[in-house]
Amino acid sequence: MACRTAILISGSGTNLQAFIDAVAAGDLDLELCVVFSNRPDAFGLERAEKAGIPTSCIRHGDYPDRESFDRAVAADLDRHAPELLILAGFMRILSPAFVEHYAGRILNIHPALLPKYPGLDTHQRALDAGDEWHGSTVHFVTEELDGGPRILQGRLRVNAGESADELQTRVQAVEHRIYPEAAGLVGSGRVLFDDGEAIIDGKRAADPVIRSY
Ligand code: GRF
Repeated sequence: MACRTAILISGSGTNLQAFIDAVAAGDLDLELCVVFSNRPDAFGLERAEKAGIPTSCIRHGDYPDRESFDRAVAADLDRHAPELLILAGFMRILSPAFVEHYAGRILNIHPALLPKYPGLDTHQRALDAGDEWHGSTVHFVTEELDGGPRILQGRLRVNAGESADELQTRVQAVEHRIYPEAAGLVGSGRVLFDDGEAIIDGKRAADPVIRSY
């Protein structure tokens, strides 16, 4: 049985689209059971509807605090019994209770080679530092922002003179390949979260799998 997977978005949803396309092509054995947004105008909701995936939306502004919003989100998601949660441009920091509720079952993608550049403006920061390599990281979500165990990194060489926007475009294309791949590894049980660490093919993995593009 394919792993029941919820995808959480706030915006355009190009990563969501990569999941939809990979499942449709038969390259990814996940059942996309719901797409959730905290913004009713997120274009990703249209992508999901077009693909026939159930959608749900709860506005964070309708709740007095993070904890009550997160409780509402979890109750809503749990109607779909997801086994895996994919954060795909979901622009909300998760409360500890939410992370605990889905412990070891939430993935995020961050546009940097973590542990470099957690937080914002990652492309400009990589350029400013003169990095030779930049890319994106899929990791398990823990309470530490952008700090959970890393599963898979996609990296590319920074081109001389390229802008942050150009770099971002190239990194996004990498994300659309590595995120479905990493989710497939988790969904099939080849990658697990155990005791705060990633287990990849049976081995405790201090370092992620790296793909160079
Ligand atoms: C991605 O670049 C990802 O790294 C970050 O949010 C962005 C989402 O883009 N976490 P999209 O909505 O999937 O196009």
